[in-house]
Amino acid sequence: MTDFFGREIERLKRKDSYRWLRGMEGATGPRMQVDGREVIVLCSSNYLGLANHPRLKTAAIEATDRLGVCSAASRLIAGNNELYRMLEERLAAFKGRGAALVYSTGYMANLGVISALVKEGDVVYTDALSHASIIDGCRLSRAAVKIFPHNDLDALKDLLKSDKGFRRKLIVVDGVYSMEGDLAPLPDLTKLAKSYDALLMLDDAHGTGVLGEDGGGTLEHFGLKGSDAVDIEIGTLGKALGSFGAYVVGSRDLREYLINRSRSFIFTCALAPSALAAAIAALEVLQQEPGHRQQLWANVRHFREGLYRLGLSAEPSVTHILPVMTYERQRTMELCERLLELGIFCQGIRPPTVPPGTCRLRFTVTAEHTRADLDQALGAIEKSFREVALL
Ligand SMILES: Cc1ncc(COP(=O)(O)O)c(C=O)c1O
Repeated sequence: MTDFFGREIERLKRKDSYRWLRGMEGATGPRMQVDGREVIVLCSSNYLGLANHPRLKTAAIEATDRLGVCSAASRLIAGNNELYRMLEERLAAFKGRGAALVYSTGYMANLGVISALVKEGDVVYTDALSHASIIDGCRLSRAAVKIFPHNDLDALKDLLKSDKGFRRKLIVVDGVYSMEGDLAPLPDLTKLAKSYDALLMLDDAHGTGVLGEDGGGTLEHFGLKGSDAVDIEIGTLGKALGSFGAYVVGSRDLREYLINRSRSFIFTCALAPSALAAAIAALEVLQQEPGHRQQLWANVRHFREGLYRLGLSAEPSVTHILPVMTYERQRTMELCERLLELGIFCQGIRPPTVPPGTCRLRFTVTAEHTRADLDQALGAIEKSFREVALL
């Protein structure tokens, strides 16, 4: 029976779809060891460089000393330690909403929120490029799932118009699309959701901490922070905020509803105190040290202009996620390996993460990269892309 594993692995290798884990060593940062080689990392989500910030580390160590390593129960049993309340109050204030609820991961938040909001007899609409956790949440819900082409609000409107007889309608979108780096057209989307009486849910995993004057995310970028433009917003603590975990923000009623109805919230162990304390410190750093965000955007500009000078485009990105199309699986992975030889780590992205024929190298710039790092990366990109005639 277990022959199946080996056969499937061989099949994946033949299709250039095989995935394996790389060995990362060293402190999370712009330079690390990958499979024993020192490289510049251009594919992490440590956008502001907070993962190794002294204030986050001190907060995590103090929380561990004081409260222990593990919360040792689900939140509804005995795991709701004192740091949760503080973090949720600060997250709600940071997003300008009535309440926040912390989840264990963004993946679990999407699964548990979507499946709690819609069920059989309801309908959920989502973008063709939505994150896998949104798609999985939609599937789990047993609601009818309708996918509209990326950012095509006319197509969404047609669906909303023609769909009759569903009890509840939910629209779920990303704020910043994780593989494209472009934004959801939120101002128009909020109007559309309201006029068709649909709930609107935003996943701002990549916008939070990065977009908006105060790092409030995609809603702040569009001047919608603190409004009820979206009914539900989720985000992760494991990207720009440099910690681990995730959250949902919205109304107080939403929070209570999820505590009672969201299975991925209810049936899992509470986060470690260190993760909660680090996230609290991250929110303080975000407010008190805007220089990280400014540096990130300066780096994004420098890298984007460098790509452009080489004749490469990161379209449709308008953010720190800069995809360069390489199209075919084999070439993408060859380029990834070649870049590693040249001292640059950018993981190749293939289906099912992106649609077939749209493989890419998805570069993510962080505040901690130096100009020299970025210039070295651009040099390596030029060399490797020339070798495979993509330049
Ligand atoms: C858009 C989006 N949503 C959700 C997640 C999941 O978040 P987490 O890593 O906290 O599970 C990710 C990232 O991995 C993401 O890119």
